[in-house]
Amino acid sequence: MALQWVGLKILCLLFSLAVSPSMVLPVVVNGTMGASVTLPCEGSAYSHSSTPDVLWKTSDGVIVADFLQDIDNIYFKDRVKFNREGIKTRNFSITINPTFLSDEDNYKCVCRNCKKTILANVHLTVCAPPLKKSVSASIGDSVTLPCFSHVNRQTARDKLFVQWKRGDKLVLELSSGMFKTKLLDPLFLKLRVM
Ligand SMILES: *[C@@H]1O[C@H](CO)[C@@H](O)[C@H](O)[C@H]1NC(C)=O
Ligand SMILES: *[C@@H]1O[C@H](CO)[C@@H](O)[C@H](O)[C@H]1NC(C)=O
Repeated sequence: MALQWVGLKILCLLFSLAVSPSMVLPVVVNGTMGASVTLPCEGSAYSHSSTPDVLWKTSDGVIVADFLQDIDNIYFKDRVKFNREGIKTRNFSITINPTFLSDEDNYKCVCRNCKKTILANVHLTVCAPPLKKSVSASIGDSVTLPCFSHVNRQTARDKLFVQWKRGDKLVLELSSGMFKTKLLDPLFLKLRVM
């Protein structure tokens, strides 16, 4: 009997989770590194206050954009805009431009003074442009060898360890936050990292 009750309670809990009105299924948006990407947030059905207090957050709570004030963090400052035209229609979508690989994350569009708090859940994927198998350059010209990787935005630079090699020979290394050309080979003395 007791066991049945427990079973029933679990069922009820599952059921209430499934129909909970605060649950918004994540929308998947695919972005490309370096391009602009729009994260949709449609708030018209839920807003009732005259100035909705809306902000966007990452999964770890970093503020991406705040409708009422400028944000002040190095991760998204000057890269994110609300659709000012769409505000009359309660369109709280934001555009990130340019998109970084480290922007891949789950985002929430949150309204702090609406009946409904979470207006949108967006999962943003970001892909790097395909790497070319070969890069050509003329003698004397500079040449860029592309290399991208997904790194968490909050990873400190001194925690990154990256090496470039030519064959087995180390050409350039990033460690403890510093780039070092390990070779005293005059060929590589002009390396520069973007
Ligand atoms: C996003 O990318 C995934 C995986 O490549 C794909 O299955 C999905 O259809 C894409 N979604 C959109 C909206 O383009
Ligand atoms: C909301 O704004 C975004 C970004 O400007 C736009 O792409 C989208 O079409 C707008 N949505 C509606 C329903 O107008």
